[in-house]
Amino acid sequence: MKGVRVQARGRAVVGGKGRVARGATRLSALSSETTTGVKRNPNLAKLGAGYLFPEIGRRRREHQEKNPDAKIISLGIGDTTEPIPKVITDALQGAAAGLNTKEGYSGYGAEQGMGGLREKLADRFYGGLGIGSDEVFVSDGSKCDISRMLMLFGADTSIAVQDPAYPAYVDSSVIMGATGTLNEETSQYKNIVYMDCLKENGFFPDLSKVGKTDLIFFCNPNNPTGACASREQLQALVDFAKRNGSIIVYDAAYAIYIEDGSPKSIYEIEGADECCIETCSFSKYAGFTGVRLGWTVVPNKLKFSDGTPVNRDWNRIMTTCFNGASNIVQAGGLACVTDDGFDAMMGLVTYYKENCKLIRECFTEMGFEVYGGVNAPYVWVGFEGRPSWDVFAEILEKCDLVTTPGSGFGPSGEGFVRVSAFGNRADVEEAIMRLKDVYGK
Ligand SMILES: Cc1ncc(COP(=O)(O)O)c(C=O)c1O
Repeated sequence: MKGVRVQARGRAVVGGKGRVARGATRLSALSSETTTGVKRNPNLAKLGAGYLFPEIGRRRREHQEKNPDAKIISLGIGDTTEPIPKVITDALQGAAAGLNTKEGYSGYGAEQGMGGLREKLADRFYGGLGIGSDEVFVSDGSKCDISRMLMLFGADTSIAVQDPAYPAYVDSSVIMGATGTLNEETSQYKNIVYMDCLKENGFFPDLSKVGKTDLIFFCNPNNPTGACASREQLQALVDFAKRNGSIIVYDAAYAIYIEDGSPKSIYEIEGADECCIETCSFSKYAGFTGVRLGWTVVPNKLKFSDGTPVNRDWNRIMTTCFNGASNIVQAGGLACVTDDGFDAMMGLVTYYKENCKLIRECFTEMGFEVYGGVNAPYVWVGFEGRPSWDVFAEILEKCDLVTTPGSGFGPSGEGFVRVSAFGNRADVEEAIMRLKDVYGK
């Protein structure tokens, strides 16, 4: 079989430098085990399981197949449900329609985003904090920026994460090769420092126990616990990073939900512009989870150990890996940061926060330990002593309700489930009735 290597276990491998081996087509038709000669990226092989939310989706579908009549409600994945305000969709429509005209047409734009939008983002969210438009990079969302950040820093970077936290930090680090393998017993990857955020420490890490790392991923308000750090806590975090020469990747995806006067941007903290990148998104601000628009701030003052501005390298990454956010979507972003657009976004935030209140009250009345849901759209409910996946499965089975198991966000999430407030009101009310039926007695 010229050009075809047959491996020990009988799997056929297409060989030759870029040539399709003679006989390979016939062989692949005969055997479903035909492979290429390309070695699998070992970092992907390190990932313990599928990404959390597709796995939840899979279990939901399985439940629906078994119970075709069930009206499943999802308060699981933090996906928004309410329509985008008209002031914003008008701008999206206008930009889309304009593409049909000579004057309104535009092709590739700046990879960093439209100048006008960068300026407005700097004014609206960082006014008075010394952040200029050249430090704001518009993107297709925070999750993509988090992955690109790993590309920015490379594999030879040590990492600390809150435990529990949004899974993209750990999974992107694993894929980049910045971690060791998964320890099945502890559910932790080697070479990642897990900063325990437990109810015992108010969901803020005890920094005296955290080792020095290059990067510190910090999500505030936290997904999934809904905890929001105070000014003093954030100052302690920034001081800690500066002492260790670390860079904080501060994920402010839910900052607009903060209502208790805590800082909404890390740049409100003294010294943060010398040690912090901040990423943010319109996903949970304006219902842009499907539309896709976010931004990342990389201050000019932030430098690598050799003095190179991080901003310069981030610019290089964005110009190489990204071709600019959609021109239509950026027009929508411009509408979001007008006064009317901002008020409309706050209307959405108020709506989801009312859901939070209802969910919090429901679990509190039933005697559960309840956290979050005040400065964040997530309610973190304790089921002490029970594995989160079991609780998730029980709620799905008995209430036809999708939640998210706490352990999916890291080992310290064990014993909790996260309930998202991003449902529509009727669904939230129905979910509450079902929960009370099962757990309220
Ligand atoms: C903490 C956090 N950061 C980032 C994201 C992703 O945001 P985007 O939709 O902009 O990619 C999410 C989405 O749920 C999130 O919870």
